Amino acid sequence: MAMSPAFTIRHITVAEALPVRLDVLRRGTPSQDATYDGDDEPHTAHIGAVIGDRVVATSTWLMRPWQHDTTATAVQLRGMAVLDEMQNTGVGHALIDAGMTHAHSVGARYVWAKARDSALYFYERCGFHIVDEQFLEPASGLPHHLVLRETVTA
Ligand SMILES: CC(C)(COP(=O)(O)OP(=O)(O)OC[C@H]1O[C@@H](n2cnc3c(N)ncnc32)[C@H](O)[C@@H]1OP(=O)(O)O)[C@@H](O)C(=O)NCCC(=O)NCCS
Repeated sequence: MAMSPAFTIRHITVAEALPVRLDVLRRGTPSQDATYDGDDEPHTAHIGAVIGDRVVATSTWLMRPWQHDTTATAVQLRGMAVLDEMQNTGVGHALIDAGMTHAHSVGARYVWAKARDSALYFYERCGFHIVDEQFLEPASGLPHHLVLRETVTA
């Protein structure tokens, strides 16, 4: 693992999340809109990594049903983004850990995401499973798969 400054995981605001989303997730894509439906909902959590006052990574956790079991409480992870210079230093894993704790605390059984194919290795390393076929996500035009992790294992 590369040497990097120590980071802290904390809740951040949408305003803090947006520049990181734009930089990491919208660069080179047709869309420059990095806001999500539900960003301002009361049960939405924005969890980031900060170094001092600087937000270096972001993730957003929304209450959204899992399409294959809509009766269960579920959380959708969106906007998973780590600034280039901080990638592969464990920040992503730390955000997933914090988000899974959040999902458990709101009673979710599932956490799911539309994962870019280029990030599938990361989600699998974090305990997610790939579900269903590849699809193109409209905002970015990039190939994606659904990924799923249960908060509690039997
Ligand atoms: C994907 C992303 C969120 C992961 O966060 P990160 O902070 O870089 O990830 P971490 O450092 O916590 O972990 C990366 C893991 O993937 C591994 N990895 C990195 N590149 C890899 C590659 N090309 N092939 C296989 N494994 C790789 C690392 O070794 C590490 O594995 P580990 O579990 O053995 O430690 C981040 O790289 C990112 O923002 N990428 C660009 C935007 C993006 O694709 N976001 C996801 C949208 S769905």
